[in-house]
Amino acid sequence: MRETKRWNMKTDSNAIMEAAALLKQGKTVAFPTETVYGLGADATSQQAVSGIFQAKGRPEDNPLIAHVATKEQLRKLVTSLPPLAETLIDAFTPGPLTMILPSNGTCAKNVTAGLSTIGVRIPDHPVAHELLKTCGIPVAAPSANISGKPSPTSADHVWADLHGKIDGLVDGGPTGVGVESTVVDCTQEIPVVLRPGGITKEQIEQITGTVMVDPALAGSADRPKAPGMKYTHYAPEVPMWLVEGSPEKIQAVINRAQNEHKRVGVMACNRTAENLQADRIISLGSDLREIAANLYDALREFKNGDTDLILCETFPTENIGQAVMNRLEKAASDYIPE
Ligand code: TXA
Ligand code: MG
Repeated sequence: MRETKRWNMKTDSNAIMEAAALLKQGKTVAFPTETVYGLGADATSQQAVSGIFQAKGRPEDNPLIAHVATKEQLRKLVTSLPPLAETLIDAFTPGPLTMILPSNGTCAKNVTAGLSTIGVRIPDHPVAHELLKTCGIPVAAPSANISGKPSPTSADHVWADLHGKIDGLVDGGPTGVGVESTVVDCTQEIPVVLRPGGITKEQIEQITGTVMVDPALAGSADRPKAPGMKYTHYAPEVPMWLVEGSPEKIQAVINRAQNEHKRVGVMACNRTAENLQADRIISLGSDLREIAANLYDALREFKNGDTDLILCETFPTENIGQAVMNRLEKAASDYIPE
């Protein structure tokens, strides 16, 4: 166990200075972004970056995203900025967009897992921005959770997973978007979405016209192009089933499970939730943006010992619903079609 220093942005005026100093010393520091909390380390140091993999128990073949404060810093990590990347930067950064670009080797090898490309992003969160600006180095940062668990959207989520394993945690309150950044391959002329996220396919289409989606995301057997997409992810403590259909249909599934003496937890939008009865019900919100923001916290709420089965309704895959359903499908162990 190591000591994890925790700063509160509301009360600790030295938080950013101290956290930036730790990062520059090669230590691991978790911090909020607009999507989820990230676990950061100096992206130019192989040793610092290996601290991230150790703390998370993350497979080494899954590359990390390099975070920077400005476009000028981003430019220093890649061989070139293709016109497509310039267009996306102008439209969506700072923001929940990660661009896959040709790496120039400035970042350590374990950031890119040996690939010739690197994922880069300029987060749109005041704490992330100040921290990146103050330390002045590119910061490799995956989501700050134990590998396989739901991503953290609050400092308490990070603390529960990683205290004693990391050097620092900047508490900047809950994150906003709630699902991770959209990963877009910018190495071809047409953008390819490798992981749906905070910037929607529809938003990108409005700027670039055509957008492709990695076929592996559509459920085919292809190997996903974002290496991380092949692993078990976002898993709650107890099994979760996705249930398609009306509230009556979902209620029937609840009743059947309760008859088998299961304690059933439910996740649904506010309107569906009002029409259901179960052992515990978490209302995720009234629209897809709210549902995305509350998703990971809800997944973490259901604990082994008080719930035996989680049922979650399915949502439309338009706009941010695509990211929501992508995460739910990965978190679920079963799918009950209509
Ligand atoms: O919102 C986010 O993106 C958060 C915050 C902390 O910025 N970070 C995050 O990182 O979600 P992580 O490591 O949990 O997910 C990174 C994803 C993985 O699916 C990884 O495989 C993919 O990006 N990725 C990274 N570099 C890549 C590359 N060169 N080519 C293809 N995929 C890459
Ligand atoms: Mg992650």
